[in-house]
Amino acid sequence: MPYLKKSLFQAHELAGLAVKEGDTVVDATMGNGHDTEFLASLVGEKGRVFAFDIQPTALERTRDRLEKAHCLDWCTLILDGHENMDAYIHEPVKLVIFNLGYLPKGDHAIGTRYETTRRAIEKSLALISDDGLILIVIYYGGDSGFEEKDALLSFLNTLDCRRYTVMRTEFMNQINCPPILIAIEKNISISSR
Ligand SMILES: C[S@@+](CC[C@H](N)C(=O)[O-])C[C@H]1O[C@@H](n2cnc3c(N)ncnc32)[C@H](O)[C@@H]1O
Repeated sequence: MPYLKKSLFQAHELAGLAVKEGDTVVDATMGNGHDTEFLASLVGEKGRVFAFDIQPTALERTRDRLEKAHCLDWCTLILDGHENMDAYIHEPVKLVIFNLGYLPKGDHAIGTRYETTRRAIEKSLALISDDGLILIVIYYGGDSGFEEKDALLSFLNTLDCRRYTVMRTEFMNQINCPPILIAIEKNISISSR
């Protein structure tokens, strides 16, 4: 087993540290529902997972997955853009996870876009609790291109360092643009720990 795990695995490890049973969390890019199911297992039946996607296929696949895993009851699947998350969520959330790019085994032309992703991150910053965490796995290159990644990294660089700590991890010598992991937490959570 390698010590250096893939970005998505690292994201799940961080999520496992932050999220406790009974928490409210958000899967901002539901896709095939892998992250939704993982989050549902972390929060358990006393928690709540809000999951967003703009494609009905993603909702159908995720609903099937959650039904089979017997955790659909505490998941709210929303057919809308994550940039509108504040219209559905009216409580602090412990974690928001983004898995950017296009739906695997779906239309590669319908992927996440910088403008809406940025708006969703801004809304996530407003929604997360003081000890909350935002995780963003950025897939880029290939059909996803570089536009969203480049613009997003520039935006994340502008976040006020007095208010937020932003971490970026990436593999340096791999081929085919391996995904980048971004983690954001509020500084208040560091000083009060
Ligand atoms: C890489 S996939 C997510 C994979 C997913 N986390 C999984 O476990 O299978 C990215 C998803 O983001 C969705 N998406 C694109 N724009 C979106 C938006 N504005 N709001 C929510 N989801 C969006 C796409 O439809 C696609 O299903």
